[in-house]
Amino acid sequence: MKDKAVLKKDSNKNDASSINNIANGPESDLNGKKTIKRRMFLASIGMGAVAMGLQQIGCSGGSKPAPAIQGLENVPIKADSSKVWVPVSDRKVRVGLVGYGVCKFSAAFGFQNHPNVEVVAVSDLYPDRCAELAKVTRCNKTYPSLEELVKDKDIEAVMISTDAPSHPRHCIEALRHGKHVAVNVPAVFGSLEEADELYEEVKKSGLKYMMFETSAFHEDLYAMRQIYNAGGFGKLIYSEGEYYHYSAKQIDSYKGWRIGGPPQWYPTHSSAYHVCVTGGSYTEVSCLGMPSWMETFSETKNRYKNPFATEIALFRTSDGGMARMAVSWDTPGDSGEKGRIRGQKGSFYGKYEGLEKNLPDLIRPALPKGVDSGGHGGTHGLLMDEFITSILQDRKPLVDIAMALNLTVSGVVAHQSALKGGEWMKIPQYKMF
Ligand SMILES: NC(=O)c1ccc[n+]([C@@H]2O[C@H](COP(=O)([O-])OP(=O)(O)OC[C@H]3O[C@@H](n4cnc5c(N)ncnc54)[C@H](O)[C@@H]3O)[C@@H](O)[C@H]2O)c1
Repeated sequence: MKDKAVLKKDSNKNDASSINNIANGPESDLNGKKTIKRRMFLASIGMGAVAMGLQQIGCSGGSKPAPAIQGLENVPIKADSSKVWVPVSDRKVRVGLVGYGVCKFSAAFGFQNHPNVEVVAVSDLYPDRCAELAKVTRCNKTYPSLEELVKDKDIEAVMISTDAPSHPRHCIEALRHGKHVAVNVPAVFGSLEEADELYEEVKKSGLKYMMFETSAFHEDLYAMRQIYNAGGFGKLIYSEGEYYHYSAKQIDSYKGWRIGGPPQWYPTHSSAYHVCVTGGSYTEVSCLGMPSWMETFSETKNRYKNPFATEIALFRTSDGGMARMAVSWDTPGDSGEKGRIRGQKGSFYGKYEGLEKNLPDLIRPALPKGVDSGGHGGTHGLLMDEFITSILQDRKPLVDIAMALNLTVSGVVAHQSALKGGEWMKIPQYKMF
């Protein structure tokens, strides 16, 4: 573990470099049977909150939200008295929480309030952050680092909210110590080699891995997935997704990992608008970027040698269709994490319009009493409940390792394509074992 003095220095460096710098800030927000389930209700819906984008960007804090970051609101799930959360077990999963940075994310998903969870220990490299995380999660055991926490034999599962570049290394460390892993996006930060290593490690371990892609539980995307699985779209012909987050002032991050980051290295909030609907993947990409007017983005000004703050990718999908996925940091105005889809039997632009008249249940699942749906469009609690339930039921979680890598790696290759002026490039494919 680094000592306090060194950590303080890192933090100050980030603060100093934040002035006049502009980079990507904390942004924030399956395949099944193809038969229509006739018992279902809601012939069509208006996803009134597709303007949800307003709430989805930025991060959501634990006890207190991090200041000056968009998207902090706790968005209550639409009330539906017919839906009640039903426990699948009375067992408590013993969880460790790691990382309490700018987004205070380890506490934001509500593990500490779930009836099937005991928060055994928490960790952050900064002692003050670690202490605050322990306080807000009512936990009395702390470790100075993830590397120490994963040695605790009492812990079964670890929630990792550390800096994005460390995600694969931290996940592998936890898996090697026999822990199930939940991790924030993205699965890897620019490295195809680490993607393969992570995939192999999850496969070898037999443990659960879930990436907490918030878009996967957006109200509109949830509805799209339900309708898709019920056959209401047929094959998707075209999908589009956007993650727009103008950040005029650099937001702090551990060792400044956000400064100048390639937009398509953070692709999952937009790429979810195909992958998390169909469970499929992107097979090829041509991506364009335009050298940014922002000072932080240039081949010499950031550690990633990245000139782009907006990248627009055109993908071929695994079912033969097309998708256009955008990530933009340097365009003020309309913002959010959003998308639309068009299929052979219908489309979804804020609501379903198409040939199918009997749609499935589109209301998102209920949560246990005391668990908030949380930020990013009311998705935090649902992600956490899905992860815990997947452990209790010994089944794969919604955003498993294959989906996490199909969401992430497509963006890594998209950035390579943008650097080559839009050359078409093949994307590695991941399948669940
Ligand atoms: N919508 C979303 O899904 C969404 C929104 C915001 C942020 N995020 C993700 O959440 C994560 C956290 O974001 P952030 O802004 O808080 O990051 P950050 O860089 O501000 O903080 C990272 C924290 O991790 C800690 N850390 C690093 N290595 C550690 C180790 N070995 N042991 C213990 N602690 C360690 C650091 O001390 C720091 O406090 C990021 O991965 C980010 O991509 C996702």
